[in-house]
Amino acid sequence: MGLSIVILAAGQGARMYSDKPKVLHTLAGKPLLAHVYQAASALTHRDIYIVYGFGGEQVPDALQDLQVNWVKQEEQLGTGHAVWQAIHDIPAADNVLILYGDVPLITEDTLQKLVDAASVSGFSLLTTYLEEPHGYGRIVRDDSGNIIAVVEEKDATEALRRIGEVNTGFMVVGASALRGWVDSLENENKQNEYYLTDIVAKAVAEKIIITPVLSESSMEVRGINTRSHLAETERYFQLVQAHHLMHHGVSLADPARFDCRGELEVGRDNEIDINVVIEGRVKLGNNITIGANCYIKDTIIADNVRVLPNTMIDNAIIGNGCRIGPYARIRPETTLGEDVHIGNFVELKKTNLGNDSKVNHLSYLGDAHVGSNTNIGAGTITCNYDGARKHQTIIGDNVFVGSDVKLVAPVKINNDATIAAGTTVTKDVAENKLAISRSEQKTISDWKRPKKT
Ligand code: UD1
Ligand code: CA
Repeated sequence: MGLSIVILAAGQGARMYSDKPKVLHTLAGKPLLAHVYQAASALTHRDIYIVYGFGGEQVPDALQDLQVNWVKQEEQLGTGHAVWQAIHDIPAADNVLILYGDVPLITEDTLQKLVDAASVSGFSLLTTYLEEPHGYGRIVRDDSGNIIAVVEEKDATEALRRIGEVNTGFMVVGASALRGWVDSLENENKQNEYYLTDIVAKAVAEKIIITPVLSESSMEVRGINTRSHLAETERYFQLVQAHHLMHHGVSLADPARFDCRGELEVGRDNEIDINVVIEGRVKLGNNITIGANCYIKDTIIADNVRVLPNTMIDNAIIGNGCRIGPYARIRPETTLGEDVHIGNFVELKKTNLGNDSKVNHLSYLGDAHVGSNTNIGAGTITCNYDGARKHQTIIGDNVFVGSDVKLVAPVKINNDATIAAGTTVTKDVAENKLAISRSEQKTISDWKRPKKT
């Protein structure tokens, strides 16, 4: 028997007060729906259907890479109506796993248990106990403990609202029975919606026993309905990631003040200070220290590197033993060799620096190739843009660039050259030569400094 998967993602998420469909709000930098898809797609399955609707094509446009069939629900008339949109495409002999796109932390393991449980009676339902069940559908059981219905909170009596066992929204149902039940749903309830949850009572009326699976983690089945839920879930998720990293040999100054919005691969003995944000894919070697308030995205950092506080690194490759910051900005397509020093208020863009080179203060290097053992003085600027095009600056090995130098690209400075402080370099500089451009200093002997009155 094959497994088809339906993910419901058409709702607006009115309680988010947002123009963006709820499932596109991000958790750890990734849309909620992408988290659900990741867990679901890990199962052995046939096809995945995602039901979308609110916000037009925003959801499929944002998640074009997913291997799914997009099914449009023009009007969002309820979760049962949403399943109905996809059900007619699903082979009748399949089991159907239904997931809600706003429950991002669901795990592959739990879903697999739910799929396995469906082999008992053809209908399995994931439930959990919550101390604060507000907003969830309640699980109603009979005297022998069998599930007989799911009642939405808005339709529940006081007594039913006191039930702590809730519907997570995840279920596995045989496709042909599911089709019959969703076809016959009605919307006579407080919200005038076609509730998927009503199929539970329909199945029970046909003497089908619902096989419950109990989720042990209330967080994995948490639905995101408000921005507060989103923030709480984000903090939970980040804390789990932080402990996972510590377990793999990273010291975090404060696990509550660390954020990874992507994938972080780590070596041993890395130390990360507070308020560090990691985005995209970042790979760290061994013995790295990252100071407070750093932002690092899509970057590979080799061993023994020190990143000092308030540094941003985006899409770069950092060699062994480098020291970067404080207050440095490394922009995309930058590569640093070994033992390179980048100091405060230095911006690098699309620039390579060879081993042992230094740019210690207040500089901008863009579209530059710098050799090894070269020193770039304070305030050096590559003038790489003529208003229309970008041009390259090439600097060789053992070059000494004095302070406050303008390098008007395209220009080349050969090995062992020296550039005097204050020079505006407009012509290539030959090996071993000194280039200097300076207006002559004058002395005005009778000058009087203005006095304040
Ligand atoms: C739903 C369940 C509730 C359960 C809770 C768990 C129903 C009727 N209620 O309530 O029992 O405890 O989830 O989180 O199913 N959606 C559509 N089309 C629609 C309506 C919703 O695709 O017409 C999608 C939403 O985008 C969302 C999911 O279905 O991803 C759940 O909808 P939501 O409105 O959040 O349902 P809840 O009120 O949370
Ligand atoms: Ca919900």
